[in-house]
Amino acid sequence: MINRLISAIYRRLNLYYSSTKLLAHDLNDLYYDLKYSISTREWENLSDYPIILNKDSLADQFSKDFVDYVPSRYSYIFSALDSIPVNPSSTTILDVGSGKGRVLCCALLKGYQKVIGIEIGNHLVDLSRNNLNQIKKGVFRRRVVGDVLLKNINIEDYDHQDEYNVIFMYNPIRGDVLKKFLDKIPTGRKDIWICYLREKADRKLNSSRFHLYKKVHPKIAIYRLNNLTDRT
Ligand SMILES: C[S@@+](CC[C@H](N)C(=O)[O-])C[C@H]1O[C@@H](n2cnc3c(N)ncnc32)[C@H](O)[C@@H]1O
Repeated sequence: MINRLISAIYRRLNLYYSSTKLLAHDLNDLYYDLKYSISTREWENLSDYPIILNKDSLADQFSKDFVDYVPSRYSYIFSALDSIPVNPSSTTILDVGSGKGRVLCCALLKGYQKVIGIEIGNHLVDLSRNNLNQIKKGVFRRRVVGDVLLKNINIEDYDHQDEYNVIFMYNPIRGDVLKKFLDKIPTGRKDIWICYLREKADRKLNSSRFHLYKKVHPKIAIYRLNNLTDRT
């Protein structure tokens, strides 16, 4: 709604459309942070905050394959979650590089049974915990019931023991780190859907294991593990 209002004002004033879109997105993000009394907007550089890693991964502390904290747009998250063909009340979502928890907050609001965040930045995990507690308090709206699990680890050390059905990735890792993560996703356990923001992932995800289920938007694609039977 805010997007449409801002676009209309800008059109009226003959202002440049892409700045209109950016401003509309920013205002939309501000609106949801204020609405839910959470704080997820400020970007952070990975090298600016403390990171605990095990000694084997220490060499990769500032790996070029790790990406800084930039939150997904709320509008993208909601469209993506609405496009994954699952029943949220029996679904666990894993956000790879969960940052300040915006995606996890949205998933709780959508009724997900469980949300899991993997995040390398220590203080980002603390901030996401505060945000998720705020969502769970549910001031002026119904309480959300989903469970929350936050893991302050490097994704390279993740063992994939959790029973997740949906993986959300907003460009958190690149290169070999991304490839290794994708290779470790277990097959044959149950339906697994991957929601990826950013087109560049296509090359890695269009492998024999995954295939494109839906392009929700030029920047949002939903994939699923290829060994599943066709049900959609
Ligand atoms: C682009 S942000 C996405 C944040 C959030 N998922 C969202 O969509 O709003 C990427 C996040 O991944 C985290 N990250 C980067 N490399 C990581 C790694 N190797 N292990 C775990 N988290 C990582 C960053 O600290 C950052 O919070």
